[in-house]
Amino acid sequence: MEEIHTIDHLRRKIKTARQAGKLIGFVPTMGYLHAGHMSLVERACRENDFVVVSIFVNPTQFGPNEDYDAYPRDEKHDLAILRKAGVDLAFMPTADLMYPDGYSTYVVQEGQLTATLCGRSRPGHFRGVTTIVTKLFNMVQPDRAYFGQKDAQQVAVIRQMVRDLNFDIQVVVCPIVREPDGLAMSSRNAYLDHSQRSDALVLSKALFEARAAIEAGQRDADKVRALVRERISSVPAVQIDYVEIVDADSLKPLKRLQGRVLIAVAAKIGLPRLIDNIQLTLD
Ligand code: PAJ
Repeated sequence: MEEIHTIDHLRRKIKTARQAGKLIGFVPTMGYLHAGHMSLVERACRENDFVVVSIFVNPTQFGPNEDYDAYPRDEKHDLAILRKAGVDLAFMPTADLMYPDGYSTYVVQEGQLTATLCGRSRPGHFRGVTTIVTKLFNMVQPDRAYFGQKDAQQVAVIRQMVRDLNFDIQVVVCPIVREPDGLAMSSRNAYLDHSQRSDALVLSKALFEARAAIEAGQRDADKVRALVRERISSVPAVQIDYVEIVDADSLKPLKRLQGRVLIAVAAKIGLPRLIDNIQLTLD
């Protein structure tokens, strides 16, 4: 595996791989890699001849009072597990390389997909995501790019962007990887102290209970939403940001549960903010 720090070097390597007829898979990440990230990486390695992983904590997707500076980083560990997984290139640009002085072009997606859920509570977040992913797509020009269902709204936004901007890239979505007790894996779980870690479990528990209620026949979205809210509110240290039940593609709120249904939650557990979701397909 080669560690790449410049855009020229990255482009040279990609060009050689492409000239050799290789299919290129790409996994964008912000590092501090865990088994969730690695499920994307491993799938990319299975499905492509040449795999690029980027590690870049993207400043433009963090709000002014968010955790950009505190975001966990462990480059040595990340590189070791990527090498072991068989990745070809690890691209690790600096913020100055991606956003040099005078940088002024942003990719902004309008409409429902970015206005709702995390877009509402984190203004500017998706502008940062669509901007950096566009830049990375232009640099890597992969055949396939891998994203996690953990960030369900990000998936919807990226799919829309790929359609709108005519990227010739197949977006591959991978299921959420969870800890054995159900907590969705996240780099931000590193912020949780012992009691916050056990409080955080209520998010997945509430979602699983919602799934059980739906499997038992419940189709009223308001009722399921109330159930999830109630369950999460039973843990006082957990502050709900949102509990939404929406169509998984349009992210429009649902009244009756039908089709591809996304139940998404965001909550603060002390300072750390976590998100989780489940997706179901219903007749
Ligand atoms: P990051 O949070 O590092 O996540 C990188 C990718 O890993 C995302 O596609 C995310 O959905 C996926 N992922 C994270 N936790 C997961 C889990 N438990 N199970 C499955 N997949 C998981 O998402 C970003 O970075 C950034 O927004 C990025 C796309 C890199 C742009 O900066």
